[in-house]
Amino acid sequence: MPRTLTGIQPSGTLHIGNYFGAMRPAIDAQARGECFYFIADYHSMTSVVDPKERRRHTLDVALDWLACGLDPKRSVFWRQSDVPEVTELMWIIGTLTPMGLLERAHSYKDKTAKGLSPNFGLFAYPVLMAADILLYDTTVVPVGKDQKQHLEMTRDIAIKFNQTYGDTFVVPESEIREDVAVVPGLDGQKMSKSYGNTIDIFGDEKATRKKIMGIVMDSRTPQEPKPDADKNLAVQLLRLVAPAEVAADFETRLRAGGLGYGDLKKALFEHYWTCFAPYRARRAELAANLDHVATLLKEGADKARATASGVLARARKASGLG
Ligand code: ADP
Ligand code: TRP
Repeated sequence: MPRTLTGIQPSGTLHIGNYFGAMRPAIDAQARGECFYFIADYHSMTSVVDPKERRRHTLDVALDWLACGLDPKRSVFWRQSDVPEVTELMWIIGTLTPMGLLERAHSYKDKTAKGLSPNFGLFAYPVLMAADILLYDTTVVPVGKDQKQHLEMTRDIAIKFNQTYGDTFVVPESEIREDVAVVPGLDGQKMSKSYGNTIDIFGDEKATRKKIMGIVMDSRTPQEPKPDADKNLAVQLLRLVAPAEVAADFETRLRAGGLGYGDLKKALFEHYWTCFAPYRARRAELAANLDHVATLLKEGADKARATASGVLARARKASGLG
């Protein structure tokens, strides 16, 4: 049976690009095999240095995922730092990781080019990520294209360890999600928290309506036919949050002429609001019962640790530790 693992960084408020691009496929994967999903709070230390902010985002990410359908009965769901064995494995495999491999990492080069001051954690990030994956005998890691290189590094490290110390780690496969569309943001660029163009999954009603009604359109009159209706940003977003036939109907009316942009944006807001309504209700229930959420994470960490300690013992034994 495949064992799928992925980490989610608690580094900001989750938006509908995260939902359609990463969360929904991960939640659907629960029907196909074993899933290990964790909140990568150690990783967030490379970008967030405020402890309150880290705690708040960690809790928000837990609530968001549970509300959207992560089922702790079917998946193992935990906070990374609750299984600190991963840091020991990071050291062990770090001693077999060539400097050249890390120096070639795009994410490190990109982040330092953007002005993040280089530190050991940022440099070693791919080794921690490899430890995350190898510690749980993962077979499949679904990731966006930006993480592909990290997966290749993980495979290189696992192979090198197995060659050096004998067969110890499962060599994982990456599953690059080519089929998942890039969700556009309010300005038409890729939706991303770094571009300030997001629609949050659990945004405030009034503020989100305002954001959506503020989407800038062209100056054509409502009556004018719009042959490019399929490229309209509101139509594209409507396809994600509304039933297919509803989105198709709005597209047809826009193409024919007679539908104003204001009415289209109003419909987009209403469907966004309805689409996430059940999750919003579930999230409110969870948020009112934080002890229960803490228990779920603790139980997840216990399950994760049971697997992790076995794999770590194997790596220690193979490498002559203890
Ligand atoms: P952000 O760009 O907002 O910082 P992250 O890089 O933290 O988002 O992405 C977390 C996950 O969500 C990744 O798997 C990424 O591929 C997915 N994701 C983020 N933005 C989008 C988007 N606009 N469309 C589709 N998937 C996205
Ligand atoms: N680096 C990933 C990201 O930025 C998060 C992550 C950490 C991860 N550890 C992982 C993803 C292990 C997959 C597997 O999105």
